[in-house]
Amino acid sequence: MDSYGIIGWPLGHTMSPTLHNWGFNQLGIDGKYQPYPVEPTGLASFMETVRSTPIQGLSVTIPHKQTVMAYLDHITDRAQAVGAVNTLYWDGDMLCGENTDVIGIIAPLNDLADLPQSAMVLGAGGAARAALAGFKELGIPRICISNRTEAKAAALADEFSVKVIPWEKRMDESPQLICNTTPLGMSGDFQSHTPWDASRFPEECVAYDIVYNPLRTRFLSEAEEAGCSTISGLEMFLHQGLAQFKLWTGQDMNPTAARQLLLDALR
Ligand code: ATR
Repeated sequence: MDSYGIIGWPLGHTMSPTLHNWGFNQLGIDGKYQPYPVEPTGLASFMETVRSTPIQGLSVTIPHKQTVMAYLDHITDRAQAVGAVNTLYWDGDMLCGENTDVIGIIAPLNDLADLPQSAMVLGAGGAARAALAGFKELGIPRICISNRTEAKAAALADEFSVKVIPWEKRMDESPQLICNTTPLGMSGDFQSHTPWDASRFPEECVAYDIVYNPLRTRFLSEAEEAGCSTISGLEMFLHQGLAQFKLWTGQDMNPTAARQLLLDALR
């Protein structure tokens, strides 16, 4: 049986095992995907195990997305552009790193009738990096970033050649796409929060939330009420996972059935 899994620390609840083990089962693949809680100090020895066991594929999450890059034989252009890896896979005997978060960010935007011509990324953490790289890869001409701590937005703006908008002035802009990568709206302490005032959505904009729990965040509900299109964070999660599965097995999960699986797991 082939071994797959996710490395991170601490490893909180993740839907990745549900998705990938379902995929193996559906496609008759003899594989098992499991959580590997790996502390930062244990990464070097774990990476030796990945090569010696071998483990066929790994998802990588916080805090290893950047540090793991030192242990790889090849890093894709896309992962290099983001400066982070979320997927390890083998190409022959080369251990490679890819960033399917970017693929996940892009996938639902490809389904829109028209590509947005302007986009604002809210937040400046790892998810914001993936959003910036994705919007650049898609060719959105005008991209800006706004973050509570402006220095972090400025650093990313410099790296990705986009504009910075002060956090308190973000709603003076009228981007065609607003992408929330902050935890505002996430279940728990932030659930009643939103990064955008209900009365200030630009006309016909697309509201894209990276948060997927709850499925309908306050940001998305209010955007919908204001007449905007919405994209749930579940789409990004789904598509980053489908892309990982394809890299590992060469096969495609059925996206509609996989989406339903995740929806059922979240309800
Ligand atoms: P991730 O790697 O998942 O993107 P992160 O690195 O913790 O997560 O980034 C979270 C982002 O959400 C940060 O940009 C953070 O802003 P700061 O740079 O000012 O810390 C932003 N964020 C977190 N809580 C916030 C809040 N209450 N209001 C506004 N922004 C917030």
